[in-house]
Amino acid sequence: MTNPMTGAVTEPTTDPTTEPTTDPTTGPAWRLPLRPELAGQVPYGAPQLDVAVRLNTNENPYPPSAAVVADIAAAVSAAAAGLNRYPDRECAELRAALAGFLHGESGVRLGPEQLWPANGSNEVMQQLLQAFGGPGRTALSFAPTYSMYPEYARNTHTEWVTGRRAADFSLDLDSAISLIDRLQPSVVLLASPNNPTGTALPQSQLRAVLDAAPGVVIVDEAYAEFRRAGVPSALSLLADYPQLIVTRTMSKAFALAGARLGYLAASAEVVDAVRIVRLPYHLSAVSQATALAALANSAELLARVRQLRAERDATVSWLRSLGLRAADSDANFVLFGAFADRHAVWQGLLDRGVLIRETGPDRWLRVSIGSTEEMRAFRAALQDLTVHDLAQQDLTEEDSA
Ligand SMILES: Cc1ncc(COP(=O)(O)O)c(C=O)c1O
Repeated sequence: MTNPMTGAVTEPTTDPTTEPTTDPTTGPAWRLPLRPELAGQVPYGAPQLDVAVRLNTNENPYPPSAAVVADIAAAVSAAAAGLNRYPDRECAELRAALAGFLHGESGVRLGPEQLWPANGSNEVMQQLLQAFGGPGRTALSFAPTYSMYPEYARNTHTEWVTGRRAADFSLDLDSAISLIDRLQPSVVLLASPNNPTGTALPQSQLRAVLDAAPGVVIVDEAYAEFRRAGVPSALSLLADYPQLIVTRTMSKAFALAGARLGYLAASAEVVDAVRIVRLPYHLSAVSQATALAALANSAELLARVRQLRAERDATVSWLRSLGLRAADSDANFVLFGAFADRHAVWQGLLDRGVLIRETGPDRWLRVSIGSTEEMRAFRAALQDLTVHDLAQQDLTEEDSA
């Protein structure tokens, strides 16, 4: 079963809200008391297929080096000796280390009280919706964008509204401001660079949104480290706007998706609000030790970012040279199209051992930037597909969206 909105794939299950079960021990039929809005929904997640070249979840293709693995292993081993105790629930050392990293990366100096880590930026954002969304409140974003956002809203009983982006996937500022004026959302959620389009939000537009929004404005910078030269981070506006929250992750540029470590930077007041809703000891001692060891090795872990950026820019140029459209990208992926039958292209690539993502606007596909060899395989597969299987069809179609 595929969720058309998220692309999530799961085994079909019975729907417990419509199919009463009979328990032989108790006799009468019983219905699972699932919240009605969850009936028929499937868990979020891209297909985890065993394919040679996996370019579908925007991971960093380069694993940590043996030296970094050894440092992480030593830190985890030391943490293991104290696992009889709960971890530091305030994550003090980690918050200080994250502040140090952000200062080096973006030049913005923040105090540890302005940082808050959790199990992936997914968890950070759900905590933010728990604190600032809720019944009777609205969260607003602009599609196409990251498909988990509506799930945070659903999970926190927050009304979810999406405006549309412009045809080039940038924010349509006039319509965004008029939606904000009309809806008065408690939360505005903007990804920059945006997933799946790769589009960064110009700072002048962010300022305009911050000036108009009555509640908090979350800028999801999961891919910020991949932004092109001269593109600023929203972190530089934190001093001017107490309602601004910037989320980041170690999953992408840091090549640490398996560790599950995301964080936010904001005013100390925002962090204190999130501390109210977090579960006690939400971030394990093992996670904290792993992140600290990784941060101590930032330079090495981030060394591949420049290479991935160059590979991304080359991929955009190559796709355009084929006569395809490719959106400008400040992230580690490229959205390209527009295909008359995008599923045929996705399947054709999969048949050639290359898994990409069928997501985003109709007729477009998203490819994550892999290693040099993986990108070579992607180019060969796409070229083979266009020359052979799809040569008889009208592969591309003018996109009017
Ligand atoms: C825009 C965006 N935000 C957040 C995330 C979640 O990242 P994390 O691994 O930190 O939960 C992703 C993951 O792909 C993403 O694309």
